[in-house]
Amino acid sequence: MADDVVTMDKIVSLCKRRGFVFPSSEIYGGLGSSYDYGHYGVLLKNNVKEQWWKAMLQERDDIVALDSAIIQHPRTWEASGHLAGFTDPLVDCRTCKLRFRADHLDQAQCGRKPSKRPGETPDCDLTEARAFNLMFQTTIGPVQEEGATVYLRPETAQGIFLNFRNYLQFSRKKPPFGIAQIGKSFRNEITTGNFTFRMREFEQMEMEYFVAPADARQWFEHWLSERMRWYLMLGIRPDHLRLRPHTTEELSHYSSATSDVEYRFPIGWSELEGIANRGDFDLRQHAAYSGQKLEYVDTANGERYVPHVIEPAAGVDRAALAFLVDAYDEDEIEGERRTVLRLHPLLAPVKVAVLPLVRKDGQPELARSVYGALRDRVQAEYDEAGAIGRRYRRQDEIGTPWAVTIDHRSLEDRTVTLRDRDSLAQDRIAFDALGVELDRRLRAAWRSPKLDASAQQTCGSSQQ
Ligand code: GAP
Repeated sequence: MADDVVTMDKIVSLCKRRGFVFPSSEIYGGLGSSYDYGHYGVLLKNNVKEQWWKAMLQERDDIVALDSAIIQHPRTWEASGHLAGFTDPLVDCRTCKLRFRADHLDQAQCGRKPSKRPGETPDCDLTEARAFNLMFQTTIGPVQEEGATVYLRPETAQGIFLNFRNYLQFSRKKPPFGIAQIGKSFRNEITTGNFTFRMREFEQMEMEYFVAPADARQWFEHWLSERMRWYLMLGIRPDHLRLRPHTTEELSHYSSATSDVEYRFPIGWSELEGIANRGDFDLRQHAAYSGQKLEYVDTANGERYVPHVIEPAAGVDRAALAFLVDAYDEDEIEGERRTVLRLHPLLAPVKVAVLPLVRKDGQPELARSVYGALRDRVQAEYDEAGAIGRRYRRQDEIGTPWAVTIDHRSLEDRTVTLRDRDSLAQDRIAFDALGVELDRRLRAAWRSPKLDASAQQTCGSSQQ
């Protein structure tokens, strides 16, 4: 395998240069741990979410979808334990006025120059650690003083539990069944940095799978392997993905077993997704706080129980970041260094670029008609500005798997060349066969070329 050339700095720079991710509020100096997704970032994230929905809804018939409110009744967070327990231990430095996580002091930097670890110099004046709740508060109602305090949800999961009864009634599902949701969550994170890995506003993809208590263990194992399969199917290299069971000390208050899906980022192995056996904690808590019965009754035999819950909880932003990092590569074509995102075609923001070789002789007109036909099928892009080599490089950098080039021969015999981002092969193909050929390639099994040393060498050959 070729050496992995990726670093977090290279990803940050590519994301800005090519319009995937920008620091938020940049003209005002930025806002800590907030990012804006640009055009290609939006397309990439949409593809990640589409693949998740596909795995949850289209490929199964035991899961249904939900889009619940971000601001929920404040009792929700009393019942869930977030109000009392969703805290980080914090210390403030009275000298440099910065705030640090007490359990991460060894990784933090003091605000003064030359920067040291907080507490390392005699001038550091740290307070005692105190609990800091990570939920963002606001008030609901027109008058702040009279309004009720509410919270921006710190996880999408609770909206699912609040709707459990509705789903039993309308969906004609019975355990085992799941409710899936994608949406924004908000946490006033203290440890920041590492780009989009840890943000204050982020998107989650969570599914709560309700099962009979006796079956919980078996379903926990099922979801561990399903979720690993999803990342691998979308091209993450197997040696960069692992499952790490939580130790007893790490387990959340609601969990009897949790394993993290971890990816080997340039910053080290880090969590992409947590898969937890939440038992009946949430339904029992919400039943107690709301006074409503939240249980399943089997009408056939009268059996009633509070289902146990298996929860695969993933982050859209972290998944997108992992796919970007895993795809980033550099090689050389005709002595020129190329940066290329070897993204799985299903995740690539743009599937095909349509490029006239020159901007004359009727080529742009024909290319525009090819583009018109292809954009009906897939996300396509038309580009006629600049040298063809530069246009290929630009598409390589945003991960476009295929480029269609219209040249003088295209006008004579209605064929085009179809260039492959990874192998650099250029196939001559009839204009009318293009759509079907792209569909076929999009559906084909895919494996990261970064895994294949011989493919790496081919890429260094002399083709465009
Ligand atoms: N309902 C369970 C739950 O929220 P979690 O491990 O706190 O569990 C699930 O979050 C996933 O959400 C994480 O694995 C991660 O991918 C994503 N996530 C959590 N906090 C995040 C943050 N501050 N920025 C980006 N993604 C985050």
